[in-house]
Amino acid sequence: MHDATVAQAEPIEQIRSERFNNFIDSYALTAELNGQPYALENLSDTGAKLTSVSGSIVKGNVYPFKVLSSENHVLFECQAEIVWLNESCDTYSFGIDFTDHILPRELLNSLDRLMLTEYEIEKELNAFDSIPEDFRLLVFEIENFFIHLKKHVDELEENYETRNEESKASLLDAMEVRFGNYVSDKLNHFGRRLYDYLDHLKDKQKAERYLNFFRNELNEFYLQSPYAKRAMEKPLGYAGDYEMMNQVYRNGYEGKNLFAKLIHRYTVNEAAAISVRERKAYLAQKINACIQECQSKVISIASVACGPAQEWGEFFNTYTLPEDAQLEIVLIDQDKEALLEARRNASSAVRASGMTKQVKVRCEPVAVKDILERNPEALALLSSGFDMVYSAGLYDYLPGPIAKSLTKILTKALKPSGQLIIGNFHPSSSTRAICEFSVDWRLIYRTEEEVVELGSELEGFEIESEVDSQSIVVYLLIQN
Ligand SMILES: C[S@@+](CC[C@H](N)C(=O)[O-])C[C@H]1O[C@@H](n2cnc3c(N)ncnc32)[C@H](O)[C@@H]1O
Repeated sequence: MHDATVAQAEPIEQIRSERFNNFIDSYALTAELNGQPYALENLSDTGAKLTSVSGSIVKGNVYPFKVLSSENHVLFECQAEIVWLNESCDTYSFGIDFTDHILPRELLNSLDRLMLTEYEIEKELNAFDSIPEDFRLLVFEIENFFIHLKKHVDELEENYETRNEESKASLLDAMEVRFGNYVSDKLNHFGRRLYDYLDHLKDKQKAERYLNFFRNELNEFYLQSPYAKRAMEKPLGYAGDYEMMNQVYRNGYEGKNLFAKLIHRYTVNEAAAISVRERKAYLAQKINACIQECQSKVISIASVACGPAQEWGEFFNTYTLPEDAQLEIVLIDQDKEALLEARRNASSAVRASGMTKQVKVRCEPVAVKDILERNPEALALLSSGFDMVYSAGLYDYLPGPIAKSLTKILTKALKPSGQLIIGNFHPSSSTRAICEFSVDWRLIYRTEEEVVELGSELEGFEIESEVDSQSIVVYLLIQN
């Protein structure tokens, strides 16, 4: 059976070119000369070599020639002249030149592409088959939720498009009353179920299959959230930069449409994001305790990797300084943009509290590396001595030996009775799963014992740990 689609052959213009031996193997092509089948040994733009066990063709004669696919589709047909002939005991082989056409290369290229496509599809199907059914079901369940959510939310938004601004704004207000939490709760629930599959990411090859599958199915939805998108894209080289912290603290509906806004709201309400907001209140309370208990009236407190330093807003909103106290706030970060933001936030909090005469804000562009390498400026900064040094959102990125060295150096920067507080995400954080599966945000999680271990080489300090209300952030407390 011959296919009606015969390739458009091009007139001969070029001399004999490379032969497509591999091509013939890959596609199992056959040939027909003068109505008889032959094996196609090789094929070039302008000719071919054919073989069979017997034959009755004559050198110099011209015959009709066809190239056929394995399914007998005619790929190419033309007239061909026999240019040489070779007959041995068991093979009959001969060479032909196409007399009026050259082989259509574009057809070969297209065939190649299609074959590659077939290969890719097979590869994806195999990868899919190798993923356990329960994980597939979970991913499809999440996808199903997203599809339904998007359909309804897009329709809803469309209905509001022609309305006035007040009416549009009312939709977001209403979301805050009910629907926002409904969506966040559903996605949080999926995130917790995903946590059971975290172990599969330990094996590199397995991880690749799981992650490809998860991201192929779901990231078009998750990454609608500007927070998730930034975490995935890592414009400053890592997820969790100061702008992401601001997104968490703003805790709003951000994104280019209603669906995106809802997904964003969920991402900044995952358990870890709630803990980050709680961390602000925790640190403000520790800062207050330090100030109240400080023997000296001149108090100095430093934040290492301060980010936007929002805890100072919380502090000045909630507490007041003793009348005669002088406070120096030292904000340290490697990122100048983060420091600008930190200065703005801390200074406006001070101004709003009316305590500008008592408080000085100092910003220092210093990286952990400068501290570890004992860079003179970093050393000078630390040698001034602090009543409290704290660091939140940094140790989760530091491997053990670096975390230990930094801890040692920071304890040396404490005044007598000074305190070092270090926050670190706990392995039980359920947000860990969605962070790793969806946006490739991998942190170093530590248990209570593991944070205490960071201070194991210190002498003369009281060391303890405490966890936040959701057991998501663990704090290491080192008291001089
Ligand atoms: C997750 S944010 C935490 C910010 C802040 N402590 C908070 O809780 O909101 C991390 C901050 O650490 C800073 N950072 C990251 N690696 C650092 C390093 N090696 N040295 C100094 N700062 C660093 C980043 O610039 C960013 O502002």
